[in-house]
Order: sequence, then structure tokens, then C-alpha cells
Amino acid sequence: MPCPSKSDDLVFFVNGRKVIERNVDPEVTLLTFLRKNLRLTGTKYACGRGGCGACTVMVSKYDPVLAKIRHFSVTACLVPICSLYGNAVTTVEGVGSINTRLHPVQERIAKSHGTQCGFCTPGMVMSMYTLLRNHPQPSEEQLTEALGGNLCRCTGYRPILASGRTFCVESNGCQQRGTGKCCLDPGGNDSSSVGRESDICTELFAEDEFQPLDPTQELIFPPELLRMAEKPEKQTLTFHGERVTWISPGTLKDLLELKAKHPEAPLILGNTSLGPAMKSQGHFHPILLSAARISELSVVSKTSEGLIIGAGCSLAQVKDILAERVSELPEEKTQTYRALLKQLKSLAGQQIRNMASLGGHIISRHCYSDLNPILAVGNTTLNLISVEGARQMPLNERFLAGLASADLKPEEILESVYVPHSHAWEFVSAFRQAQCQQNALADVNAGMRVLLKEGTGTIEDLSISYGGAGAVMVSAQKSCQRLIGRPWDELMLEEACRLLLEEVSLPGWAPGGKVEFKRTLVVSFFFKFYLEVLQELKKLAKFMPVSGLDSHHYPEIPDGFLSALEDFPITGPQGVQRYQSVDSHQSLQDPVGRPIVHLSGLKHATGEAIFCDDIPTMDRELFMVLVTSTRAHAKIISIDSSEALELPGVVDVITAEDIPGTNGAEDDKLMAVDEVLCVGHIICAVVAETNVQAKSAIEKIKITYEDIEPVIFTINDAIKHNSFLCPEKKLEQGNIEEAFEKVDQIVEEVHVGGQEHFYMETQRVLVIPKAEDKELDIYVSTQDPSHVQKTVSSTLSIPINRITCHVKRVGGGFGGKVGRPAVFGAIAAVGAIKTGRPIRLVLDREDDMLITGGRHPLFGKYKVGFMNNGRIKALDIECFINGGCMLDDSEQVTEFLILKLENAYKIRNLRFRGRACMTNLPSNTAFRGFGFPQGTLITESCITAVAAKCGLLPEKIREKNMYKTVDKTIYKQAFSPETLIRCWNECLDKSSFHSRRMQVEEFNKKNYWKKKGIAIVPMKFSVGFAATSYHQAAALVHIYTDGSVLVTHGGNELGQGIHTKMLQVASRELKIPMSSMHICETSTATVPNTIATAASIGSDVNGRAVQNACQILLKRLEPIIKKNPEGTWEDWIEAAFEQRISLSATGYFRGYKAFMDWEKGEGDPFPYYVYGAACSEIEIDCLTGAHKKIRTDIIMDAGCSLNPAIDIGQVEGSFIQGMGLYTTEELKYSPEGVLYSRGPDEYKIPTITDIPEEFNVSLLPSSQTPLTIYSSKGLGESGMFLGSSVFFAITDAVAAARRERDIAEDFTVKSPATPEWIRMACADRFTEMIPRDDLRTFKPWSIPIA
Ligand SMILES: Cc1cc2nc3c(=O)[nH]c(=O)nc-3n(C[C@H](O)[C@H](O)[C@H](O)COP(=O)(O)OP(=O)(O)OC[C@H]3O[C@@H](n4cnc5c(N)ncnc54)[C@H](O)[C@@H]3O)c2cc1C
Ligand code: FES
Ligand code: FES
Repeated sequence: MPCPSKSDDLVFFVNGRKVIERNVDPEVTLLTFLRKNLRLTGTKYACGRGGCGACTVMVSKYDPVLAKIRHFSVTACLVPICSLYGNAVTTVEGVGSINTRLHPVQERIAKSHGTQCGFCTPGMVMSMYTLLRNHPQPSEEQLTEALGGNLCRCTGYRPILASGRTFCVESNGCQQRGTGKCCLDPGGNDSSSVGRESDICTELFAEDEFQPLDPTQELIFPPELLRMAEKPEKQTLTFHGERVTWISPGTLKDLLELKAKHPEAPLILGNTSLGPAMKSQGHFHPILLSAARISELSVVSKTSEGLIIGAGCSLAQVKDILAERVSELPEEKTQTYRALLKQLKSLAGQQIRNMASLGGHIISRHCYSDLNPILAVGNTTLNLISVEGARQMPLNERFLAGLASADLKPEEILESVYVPHSHAWEFVSAFRQAQCQQNALADVNAGMRVLLKEGTGTIEDLSISYGGAGAVMVSAQKSCQRLIGRPWDELMLEEACRLLLEEVSLPGWAPGGKVEFKRTLVVSFFFKFYLEVLQELKKLAKFMPVSGLDSHHYPEIPDGFLSALEDFPITGPQGVQRYQSVDSHQSLQDPVGRPIVHLSGLKHATGEAIFCDDIPTMDRELFMVLVTSTRAHAKIISIDSSEALELPGVVDVITAEDIPGTNGAEDDKLMAVDEVLCVGHIICAVVAETNVQAKSAIEKIKITYEDIEPVIFTINDAIKHNSFLCPEKKLEQGNIEEAFEKVDQIVEEVHVGGQEHFYMETQRVLVIPKAEDKELDIYVSTQDPSHVQKTVSSTLSIPINRITCHVKRVGGGFGGKVGRPAVFGAIAAVGAIKTGRPIRLVLDREDDMLITGGRHPLFGKYKVGFMNNGRIKALDIECFINGGCMLDDSEQVTEFLILKLENAYKIRNLRFRGRACMTNLPSNTAFRGFGFPQGTLITESCITAVAAKCGLLPEKIREKNMYKTVDKTIYKQAFSPETLIRCWNECLDKSSFHSRRMQVEEFNKKNYWKKKGIAIVPMKFSVGFAATSYHQAAALVHIYTDGSVLVTHGGNELGQGIHTKMLQVASRELKIPMSSMHICETSTATVPNTIATAASIGSDVNGRAVQNACQILLKRLEPIIKKNPEGTWEDWIEAAFEQRISLSATGYFRGYKAFMDWEKGEGDPFPYYVYGAACSEIEIDCLTGAHKKIRTDIIMDAGCSLNPAIDIGQVEGSFIQGMGLYTTEELKYSPEGVLYSRGPDEYKIPTITDIPEEFNVSLLPSSQTPLTIYSSKGLGESGMFLGSSVFFAITDAVAAARRERDIAEDFTVKSPATPEWIRMACADRFTEMIPRDDLRTFKPWSIPIA
């Protein structure tokens, strides 16, 4: 067997073009290769761990076993380039392009408004495209499954699914489900305005304009690859890299010989286990043996007794094989296959299932494996092979436990897996509970099998295995043995639970935390299994009433228990989006108020939209990586960079000493000098020729610390140590003490966890020093380029006018790119000045999550005084937010929190106090809603608590206490609640709230283990900054001599569609089509001294500035137009130029005079309010804590929407982000202050399967707002809070469960309402059984910081 020292050529195809790589490095991933080597930057980096789908591409390969070409989606960040030998890769660029031909997938996702920032869009396109290559008319289920591994942080997924649904075979095209009407009903709509209900429209795009899908137009599989595959070369291919050698044998024999020669070398298949371990845990393997070309490993054989599945089959293939067997065989034989199928549906996303192999999955023996527990109970055998020969090994408890005696021998590999059929009287079930339904590792999973003595209910054999409940899989062997011979009845259940809890014991400090929840799941799952088997026995007894088998022998399942047997299905949402159509007199050419597609939509969909890191590598460019503190509070004793500096490619290490100007503010330094204040505090930065070199160098920097006391992480500790970032903020009205004397009171606490922005594009900046006059060009992903410019100026001590910041577009910001980009820009600029070379800084997802901070966690205490009719007389709220180690925006967040706490309620006696705590955590910062989503949860929790105490429904208490007439807020700003009340009433009406409330109660009476909950919340959200200087904007509009117009303004395109709206304004003002106009970028050189694009007012203020500029220009043109009224725009521009009329104008808007006097507690801090209401209905599984969202109805007051598609997109996207905040997004910190949740696998933002099954959004028909452009309203943030309707629906369901179980209804409110919280709040006999821990006796795995 040859093992040449020279590398073979790596041959594969990308987008129909042959790629031959002569000296390929096995450590390079397909993503890096596409982006760096081929300059195909449509494929994005967002997590690097296979967890987000931004890097999805399609791989096509000839399958010699099936003799057909397979197309499948993969995440390019986990695909080693060497694994692609003989494969064809299609990227978003290969699918279609604006310049050549758009693919229908690209056209439809853009035109259905399925793109906002567009960073996830190429990945979405590729997942959908791959689906269509395999199924040109997919089912909705296939569509949802295909997109399950793609995250989007902006859109809320609904429009993405809507675009995909246009390809679906059973799509009824009707978006009006749930309204009782169908747009296809005759007479429902007139043809001139599709989806129009009088002046209300219900369609955001016209499906009949879409080009049809023509599968014959797709790229063919390269004939050369087909020839190669049909006559495969058997010779071993070897690729030598700097550190790693990749060996890919062509035959099984060679593979086995190589394995014998390199026993320590892992076999690499999908790389979904090895890859993340190499990236994040520092695992290193100098030799990798690829099994990609060994067809023997993909063979599947069906025998009369079972299935033999090749270890090389992907999990997606396994799923298909199992589904086929299930359809062919009688049910009794397929119990194990059904259980495996159930787990495979929710295991990871489609891309990972396409890549991951069955062998890799089994051999990895992950403690969370979804399949191994079922394979174990299903008596699976592993067929192992080596040069020595073949042998069988059972996949049993010893294998699961990771015992060395059950290890493969180093020279062995897994060839195939034998899964036997199940038998009559044998029942197998699978269970799994994760933070969210799909694409999340299970907290606990289980496989359970029982064999009953034929015709009886006596246990003959029992096996149970759990995953997630420990460092390794656990088989409850002893418990099972003890239960053999017992009848399947309640007594057995009791005994089984006791035994299981004893055997599957988890210490309180177990890694992963959630210990009591996990213990509860151990028994809850068994209870479910108990019920399932009983149910099956009942069915059998009915059909086979033979002796000894009589349904009366088995315990009855109470009717109320039956729903415990049903799992929540994974479904895509339906819904209606309603908005007001434009006035019938409005000119057709005037785009204002119409659902115009995002200007960059098509470019997002083709990958042609350029983001910061898509800018080609500059000449002599260096890469920067940051070095951060590993201690929470310590003195820096020394920094030793000597070893790092000696590494190849390393150019310099930048420290605070290199800063020519100021190192940030005294209490907010760019780089730590003597002291670090949190884990993740930036200390220095390495610059090297490549990213890889810089990353290896940071490992070599030795920093010595001396810990400093105190170390504070929690709000409680901060209060104890009097550790605050700023003085208390307080507002008061009435006489609170006096009011409390006369009424009943409730005193309670509320805890709201923080939130990670999780913008899909991590923080990035490119700094280019120019040769002359210390000028710098900075390309940066920011919401505030002027702030970056100013910070760089003071850091480098050069005037602002030498620095130009450019923002083309930002891949999501949500507040996280207001302040922090200036820090990264400034550090990179120091590096650029010191080295004289361009510097690129692109944060890894892990670093981004570690360093940047997010939404402030909140702890609130309230005392509410009320009458027994539900009237609230007094409310005293004191809240504390965890600000982290630096001030950042914490003072303003506290102020906003206090100003907005009253939400929609008029309560005569109020006191609101707030403080920002200083802790040793990364500094928290601005985040969509700026304190409102956290604070209002306290207010709304008060309402729920009062309702419970008065025995009234929460909606009644809300209604009773809501503002009713023109009034003044707590800070004495006058406002009229008319629109608020309209939103509330419309929402009650559109959601059929009252009848559904009754249905929910009916359901709850009939079901013990499942409960439904419904809630409606009102919203009064103040828009804007409470500082006057922020209410200004400028724009620059140029008209060129060909008549084309260039618009520039001070707002940044973050995905919220500001550029689209600005061109709509300019088009209306100049009366020319949007197609004659262009926005190139936001730049500090064209519009200086801009304010951050934040606080929902970007379009308001910039729209007025653009309008002003256009009006100035039009005024100048007026005499010319008057003189030649029949002329064209081009004629007038030509004439104006001839007459020396300036065709360039600056527009300016001097906005709202915001004012707030905190001494007096009064002011007019906000220009206007956005009102809204949302109603959500959910169902919880009391046994597992899972929930499904049944329906959400939102009514939002958008004023006169500039662009209803964009505004509805903002409402939906922010609602889903809010829903994430309140249900699944949970940051976990170690007792040492280290953030555990640093990627999509540990931090769960909503996925496509988490959105409500029915999701209706209506923009309230026009309300007038004189201060804004054309009376539109800014909707960027407000929807976040409406996500709390899901939270309150969950607590409503939990309260129903608690009432039924006779336990106190008043529980401490804690957000997010995770499965753990729901399960433990629905206390029952199982939560009572579990051992409880005394938290004082051990160090927990994680600490709560709110
Ligand atoms: C984003 C993401 C989400 C995930 N979600 C889930 C989830 O929800 N549930 C779940 O259970 N798992 C999940 N996983 C884990 C996934 O199932 C495993 O990583 C995968 O099955 C491993 O298969 P692979 O082919 O990629 O293995 P590789 O990474 O290629 O190899 C893994 C190990 O197995 C060894 N190996 C592979 N094949 C053989 C063989 N034939 N003989 C001997 N040794 C072999 C390798 O040497 C290596 O040590 C997830 C993974 C990712 C990246
Ligand atoms: S970047 Fe590859 S999956 Fe996230
Ligand atoms: S549009 Fe999906 S992440 Fe921004």
C-alpha cells in the first residue's frame, strides 16, 4: 500500500467548474476554501460549528451502492476540504445571479420579504434549493424539515416559509386560515387588488408573478465525476498539510491496513463530532483516515430478522431506510425503527443529518446521543472489522457507559450495525426533552423496551437507557432486573420510579446543571412509557380477547391522562398579515405605503450582497485576534508575548501601551491595563499574516494574574456590596404609603434573564491605513459609524476628519452594534497604525458571545395594593439590572426601564426605582427594547398576581386598570390612549379571545397532563431617545446629469429596510421611480456627525432629512419644470445643469426636543408612542415541560406605514426574538463567571419549528403622528415585548395545572419559561419523588445572575 510523501491532487467541482488543488491543507474547511481561495463569499460564516446553517451549500455525489446521484445540504464550516474528492459543490453563486439568471428560490425568498439583514439568506436558499433538487414539489413537512437547521435572527421565519410554500404541492395559497374566510372564495376579492378586504390588504406579494421552477435548468452533475465514480480508482489518496495528513483509501482492505498502521488515527466520516472537538476543545490528530470512498460502509441489507445498516450511511439515509421498513413491515416488528425515527426527526438540523454517519454517531458515544439509548434497548449488534478479521459486539450498557472493555480495538472499525426487528408483545419507545423542539441537544433522552409474557401483562424483559443524565449514557440495568416478573400496573410504576431514581443518580453539581429537572424527567419519561404500553395492551386486548388477555386485567387509563401520550407535532405556521392599502387616489408611481421589496433582497438571495468580511483581502493585510481575560477580577501581573512572537506569521502583539491617544474612558478602557474586571475583558491582540496563525499565537501568550476581592456576579451580591454603576433612578406619583394602608397587598419577586444579541454576522471590522496624512478607511459592521470614527480618533490622537467609516450593510445589530464596534475598530486601528498594514478583525461566535455582553438581566421586587374587584391602587417596584463591569448604556437602560414600567396602566399611586449593578461580568449594553421587555414583565406579572388573588381573569384586571382617557404618564407627559384601546379591542376581537378562553378552560378540565394557556397583553411603547441631540439627522442627495439620483443619509442598513424606506420617500418627493435612485453606503464622509441607528427612530428622522433634501432640490428645479412642463426628468436635469443650478443638496431634520427632569420626575422625553396588543395561546406538557405555540394574534399601530411588508417583518421578527427571550434563550455562567453558552448549541434562539402554528399580524389602520415622516411610526423594537404574551400564556397553563393539583398558584416569576421551569412549576407526584439538593452543600455547575 503506497504512502507517498507527495500530496495527491484533490479534484472536485464547484458550481460546474473543476477545481484541482495541488497542495491542499487537510485542516482547511470547505467554507474557508470557498471564501478565501475561490472568493465565493455568498456562503457565510456565523458559528463555525454546524449549528446555524449560514454556511449551507449543496454537495452532489454519485452513490455507487444506489447507482444514483445524491444531492444533500451540508454546513460548509464542518466539511474538510479533502472529503470532497470526486464530489460537486453548489454554492449560492452557482444557483443563480442577478446578472445572469435568478433561480426561482432566490426570486421568491426575496419577493416574499424573506430577507431582512440577509446574512442567513444564502444558507436558507441553499437548504431550499437542495430540497427542490430532490423534491421539486415538496410537502410542507419536508420544507420545514429542510429549513430546521437554518437560523434567522431577523425575520421570525414566517416569510421564509411563505416563499418555500409556493413550491409545495399541497399549498392552498390561502393565507387566511383561521379567519373563516378564504381568499379563493368567489367574490372574496376583486382582481385589481389581490387579497384586498375593502381597504385592507392581506397579501404582501403576488405569487402569480413568480417565474416557474424548471428542474431541467439546473446544473448537471459533472460527467467527468460520473465517469470517475463509475470506475473508481482504488488507489489510496494522500494529502499532506503543514500539521495534518489526510489519507483516503479506495478499498476496505486498504482502510483496514492503514488503521492497523495508524491505530491512533481516527476514522473521519461526517466530521460533525471530530470537527467541533478539534475546533473548540483543542483536539489534534496528525493523521486522519477518511472512509468517504469505501462503498462497503454504505451497504444496507434487509434480513428476515432485522436490518444491517452500513456504518457509513448518513443519519438522513438511516431515516429513509427506517421509514421504508416501517411502511413495509407489520407494526409489531418495527417498534425499534419507529422509536429511532422519532428521534431522527428532531436530531440536529437537516444538514447535520446529511453529514453525520451512523458509525460516527455510535462511536462518539456522546452522553446526549439520541440514537444510542434506543439502539441499546433494541439489542443492536455492532459488526466490527479489522485486518485480524470480523467480530460482533453488543451495543449494550457497557458500551454506553464508555467502559474500556467495550472499546473498539485501536485497529478496528465499525463496519455495520445490526438492528433486529421487534416482536409481538414487545414495545419500544423513545423520549427526548430539549430546550426547544428541534435542533437542540436533549437535556435528557431515553430508550425504553419491555417484552411482556405473551397474552399477559407480566414483564419478561425490560431495558431502559438514558442519555443526558450524566457524563455518559446510563442503563438502568439493576432496576430493570428487579422489575422482571412484575405485572404492568401502578404498583410496578411506583417501584420502577423509586428504583430508577436510585440507579440513575445525578449529583447536584453535575455538569450541564438542571439536575432536579433531569431527575424528574427520568421518572416522567418512564410514566409516559407506562401509559404508552398500557394503551397498546388495551388495543391488543380489544382485538384478541383470548384467555388471560382481557382489557379488564389492565389498569384503566383515565381519560384525562390520554393526552399525555401525544407528542407535539412539528408544523410550519399559517397566518394572515393585514395592512391598510394605499389611498385609491395615490399615484401608481408613488411607492410610499406599498409592500416594496427590500432593496438588497435579491442580492441577499444570490450572495451578491457584500458584508464587511466579504471585502476582498487587501494587499499586505493582517488578521487580528483578541486575547481576553480568563479571570473575573484580578490584577495583571505580567504579559509575556515572547513565545507568541516567535511563531511563524506572527507580526506583533498590540497592548494598551501601543495606544498613541486615550485608552477609552477611565472606567471603560479599550484594553485592560493593570486590572481585569471580567472573564472576556480584552487585554491585548495578536496580529499575524493569517487567521490561523493569529489564533495559534494567542494560546502562547502567558498572562499572570493575582485575584482581587470582591468578585461579584449576581445582583444579590452587588446589592450586598453596594456595587452600583450609577445612582438610583426614581419616579413617583400619588401617595404610595397612604394608598397601601387601605388595600390588600401582594409582595413578590420577578427574575428576568439576560439575552445574547446573536446577530448572525459577528462583530467585524477592516481598517485600512492610507499612505498620506494619517488617513484611515474603516469598513465596519456597526449601527453607529460616527461613534467608531470618534473613538478611533481619540485612540489614535488624530483629528476626526482623517477617519472615514463605511457601512454598506450590517448582518443584524439589535443594539449590539451600537457601542462595541468602536472598541474593535479602535484596537484594530492601533494595530494598523503600528504595523502600517490593513487589519481585519472578525470575531468568532464564541468570542463574540464572551466579550460583547447583551441584554441586562433584571431582578425586580414589587408590592402591589389592590381592591378585591381588581382595581390596582398602588404599585411600588424596585428593580436592579446586572450591568456587568462597565457603565456602557446601563444608566440609560435604567432610565428607560423606569420611564416605561407603567406600560398601558393608569395607577394613581406609583413608585418606580431602578439601579444598575456593577458586577464582574462582561458589560451589558443596548438591546432592542432597551429595558422595556424586562421591566414590563414585572408590571404584567403584578397584574397576573392580582388576578389570581381576586379570582378574576388577568385580561379583566388589565382592562380595568388600562388608561381610558387623555391623561398624563407617571412623568407627566400628556397622551391619548385611544389607539391603545383600539389595539386592545381589535386584538380581543380578531383573536376571538373570549370564546377561546372558554375552550382553553374546557380543554384543561378534560386533560390532566397537558394544559393550555391563553394570554393577551397590551402595549404602550415610547419611541426614541430621551435626549434632544439624538433627534436630528442629515441626508445628502445628488442628482447626476443622466438623471440618476444618489441618496445618502445618516441611517445604517441593519436589515430593517431603512434604505428601502428612504428611497420610497425620495421617490415620492422627487416624483421619479425608485429604480432611478441608489444608495451606496452610509459613510461618515458624506453625512457627518450621525446618531446611532437605534431606538426605533432611524426612518423617522432620516426620512425627514431625505425629504428635506429632495424638497430643496425640487424647489430649485421648479422654474425649469414650470417652463417645460411636458419635459422629462432627464430634460429638466440637463437644463438645470446648463443653468448652473446645484444638483446636490443636504437635507437636515431638527427633531423632537426631548426633555426629562429627573429631580422633578417629569418631562416630555418621547416624541410618540407605538401601541399594540398580542394574544397567544399555548399548550404545555406538564410531564416534560415542553410547550407548543398554538396561535398568536398581534395588532400593531404602525401609523401610516411607509412599507407594510417591512413593518410587518419588524413586528414578526421582534416578536419571535422576544419569544426567545421569554422562553428559550438562557445564558449560563460558571461560579467563576465564565460564560458557558457561547454558540448555537448551548444558546437556543428560536428555530423555524418554534413559531406559532397560526401567526396573524395586523397593522392597525392609520393613526396620525404629526412628528414623523408621512405619519409613519418606528416599529423596530416594540414587538419584543409582545413576545411576553407567550410567556403569560405559559404561566396561565402552569397556573391551571397548579390549581388542579391544589398547590399555591402564586409562584415566583422567572423568565425564560424554559422546559425546566415549566416542568418543575407543574409539581406533581414525580417532582415529589425526586431527591432535592441542599444548595449550600456543594458548588453548583452554574449560577443565576439575575
Ligand atoms: C450542530 C450539531 C447538532 C447535533 N445535534 C445532535 C442531536 O440533536 N442529537 C444527537 O444525538 N447528536 C447530535 N449531534 C451529534 C451528531 O449526531 C454526531 O456528531 C454525529 O452523528 C457523528 O457522526 P460523524 O460521521 O460526523 O462522525 P465523525 O465526526 O466523522 O467521527 C466521530 C468519531 O467516530 C469515529 N468513527 C466514525 N466512524 C467510524 C467507524 N465506522 N468505525 C470506527 N470509528 C468511527 C471517528 O473516528 C471519531 O472518533 C449534533 C452535532 C452537531 C455538529
Ligand atoms: S457557520 Fe456553519 S453552521 Fe454556522
Ligand atoms: S435576515 Fe435572517 S438573520 Fe437577518
